[in-house]
Amino acid sequence: MSQTLIAYVNGDFIPLQNATIHIEDRGFQFADGIYEVIACFGGTFLDLQAHLNRLQRSCEAVRIPLPCALSEIATLVLQTYERNPYSDAMVYIQITRGVAPRSHLPQGELKPTLIITSRQLPKPTDAKLASGVHAITLKDIRWKHCEIKSIALLASVLGKQEAALQQADEAFWLDEEDHILEGCATNVLAIIHGALVTHPLDHQVLGGITRDMAIRAACEHSLTVEERAWKLGETGLTEIMMSSTTNAVMPICFINHQAVADGEPGVLTMQIRKWMIEAMDTLRRE
Ligand SMILES: Cc1ncc(COP(=O)(O)O)c(C=O)c1O
Repeated sequence: MSQTLIAYVNGDFIPLQNATIHIEDRGFQFADGIYEVIACFGGTFLDLQAHLNRLQRSCEAVRIPLPCALSEIATLVLQTYERNPYSDAMVYIQITRGVAPRSHLPQGELKPTLIITSRQLPKPTDAKLASGVHAITLKDIRWKHCEIKSIALLASVLGKQEAALQQADEAFWLDEEDHILEGCATNVLAIIHGALVTHPLDHQVLGGITRDMAIRAACEHSLTVEERAWKLGETGLTEIMMSSTTNAVMPICFINHQAVADGEPGVLTMQIRKWMIEAMDTLRRE
């Protein structure tokens, strides 16, 4: 059999080495996609329908429309296999939300990306089967390392979608005890009894550069800063803001459709913002 693998990419069958997708594909930018892998023996797929059904369920769960009918995907799977007809094959189907300028919440309707490849099914060696294999145990870290600025942002994409459905701009993640951790793409800070309070840096939050800048500005102007777990509804909580490179700090006036204090941008929030903007302006003058 020819060694040139043929891949299906968005309507075309092309040699694998020429099979590319756009750099703004959301699979690359956000891991905003789902996949299936199906075994094929002598041209017959094992449990094809079960894989297609799971593919459909995965797409529904992340609100990615199927790129075409499930029966058409089945045909494309077969056609991809026929171009790479290994006696024992594995066929990968990958679907992403599509290509769009990078933003958690893409604008307008996107055309999902559909990729299918067929390769030889790797088989365990007789030696491995005879000896068995060795496993280790690990604490489940899937996905509990928010301090890593990873491109595996599917949960953040879903959070932003949910916020948009509820006419909100951002969603804040809560821990098991309802402490506010951070937003989908922001850190969250509050004014409680006049102090700037934000969740401490640990594996549950990204160490935002802007969060640090807000803390620095507060310290330089003699505001008290507390890095500790905090909740909505704490007594003395008067203001909430979110921070990110694109926002500096942004006042949060409503949470879960309820006003924060009087529903107006907080005075200290806007003061901290002003200090930060002044620091940014000095860069323009340099
Ligand atoms: C999860 C998360 N938290 C916080 C932030 C804010 O980080 P920074 O202030 O460095 O932009 C971001 C920015 O993308 C983010 O994705």
